[in-house]
Amino acid sequence: MNYTKYFSKQAKKPSGIFGRFYMSRVFEKGNAELNALTFDTISIEENNHALEIGSGTGTLIKNIADNLSKGLIEGIDFSEPMVAIAKKKNKKNIYKGTVKIHLGDFDEAAFDSDCFDKIFTVNTIYFWKNPVTTLSKIYRILKPGGKLVIGFHDKNEMEKMELNKDVFKYYSTHDLQTLLSNHGSLKHIDIISKKGNQKTCYCITGIK
Ligand SMILES: C[S@@+](CC[C@H](N)C(=O)[O-])C[C@H]1O[C@@H](n2cnc3c(N)ncnc32)[C@H](O)[C@@H]1O
Repeated sequence: MNYTKYFSKQAKKPSGIFGRFYMSRVFEKGNAELNALTFDTISIEENNHALEIGSGTGTLIKNIADNLSKGLIEGIDFSEPMVAIAKKKNKKNIYKGTVKIHLGDFDEAAFDSDCFDKIFTVNTIYFWKNPVTTLSKIYRILKPGGKLVIGFHDKNEMEKMELNKDVFKYYSTHDLQTLLSNHGSLKHIDIISKKGNQKTCYCITGIK
């Protein structure tokens, strides 16, 4: 396997020493601007029950939960090293009862219907095996009036990076708008963008 494919697979599901020590730094540095836009866009309130899909190093969850005295922010990630890092980083809030981090594949995990006020995910859409099925699950587990935020970079900019296209699927803002609209479940679909130092950051949002 060449390095580009290896790196791309690690971005999808970090593993081993490379995942724990190298990919965690790549995520922390490379994803900071998009995580900041997602933080502003999801606007979690006291008492919210929220879920991050593909919570990685758990930094976004920590930034959210550190500002909350009540509520519950859950994260799910299928990478063991990422879950270990996220649990360590969120130790205080896990102890306080405002954060839970789960090891597992979102597509296979059991969540009750109508249970989350907010669901958010950053830089994971490229890896969704079946976006329609994943969106249906998100819709089922959001409360009526609940909000979805997907943070991503646009196809044009992703294509400039050295990534393997068997691992990454790129979406333009138009592709994602079409995907959510054609799914026909979420309302008030909107795109928020912010120019970053290296790439423009986007969040697509919808309401159940
Ligand atoms: C590119 S990283 C982004 C991590 C973090 N959201 C960030 O912005 O720094 C993708 C993360 O999503 C996780 N992931 C991808 N697909 C997943 C799935 N189906 N279920 C759970 N976790 C998933 C990976 O293990 C990895 O930690």
